[in-house]
Amino acid sequence: MHRKSHQCGLLLNHLGFLLGFVILIGDPNVAIASIHDYTKGVFVPLSNSFFFHGGSEGHYASSDRHSFIRFESVTFKRTKESTALYHDKQQKTGLVEAIIVESQDRDKIGGAYFNSDQICCTAELHVKKYCKVGEVIINPRSDNSEWPKRIQTFFDGKNEETSMVNQTVYINRTGMYYVYFMFCDPDLDSHGMTTISGRTVWQNQQGFFQYIYSTCLEFLYALVQVRY
Ligand SMILES: *[C@@H]1O[C@H](CO)[C@@H](O)[C@H](O)[C@H]1NC(C)=O
Ligand SMILES: *[C@@H]1O[C@H](CO)[C@@H](O)[C@H](O)[C@H]1NC(C)=O
Repeated sequence: MHRKSHQCGLLLNHLGFLLGFVILIGDPNVAIASIHDYTKGVFVPLSNSFFFHGGSEGHYASSDRHSFIRFESVTFKRTKESTALYHDKQQKTGLVEAIIVESQDRDKIGGAYFNSDQICCTAELHVKKYCKVGEVIINPRSDNSEWPKRIQTFFDGKNEETSMVNQTVYINRTGMYYVYFMFCDPDLDSHGMTTISGRTVWQNQQGFFQYIYSTCLEFLYALVQVRY
């Protein structure tokens, strides 16, 4: 247990996020929420992208909106230097994408489906009509073209900060879900790091089943009961 905790601690430090947990108990059904807090989280290079792991949880499908991932006050901050080339009135001067993907669909992120190890779309791949330049490559599911889900947030002008619109993504297929925050623009990194803060709230009516997948469970989950 101790050793496991240590490994989990290292893992969490590496991923740069803090976890807090709350149980919400309502009548008659039990809903459990897990909160992933990001404090100046740092993006790391991955292939030709930059990447921040926003969390993963097992979710049960819910047809009545009890299973969801909510983005709250998620804010990206870039350095002043990285805005040097832009004008005040210029729109869309930087893009960060939140990607929500179910475990089975993880190979739909990036160019694996056309045998490329690129994650971000390049001009060459765009010409071949695979994707849009500057975006993460996503190969949509054949049964639901909305998934894996992509939520785009742009910087405008010389602004050093931009925030995602607070929003809730409902889960109606059971599975292990991942949230990745990603950007493709090297300018967001080469002039000092772009960081993320804010949080995601993951709620699940019947509780999570992460323990099936995660050896870190005992360490990760300190559950607090709250009545509402
Ligand atoms: C987003 O949600 C957080 C937490 O509920 C809240 O404090 C914040 O004011 C919201 N932001 C906006 C722009 O509504
Ligand atoms: C649930 O998923 C189906 C496809 O799998 C989709 O058509 C439908 O809009 C989704 N419902 C909700 C409430 O998200």
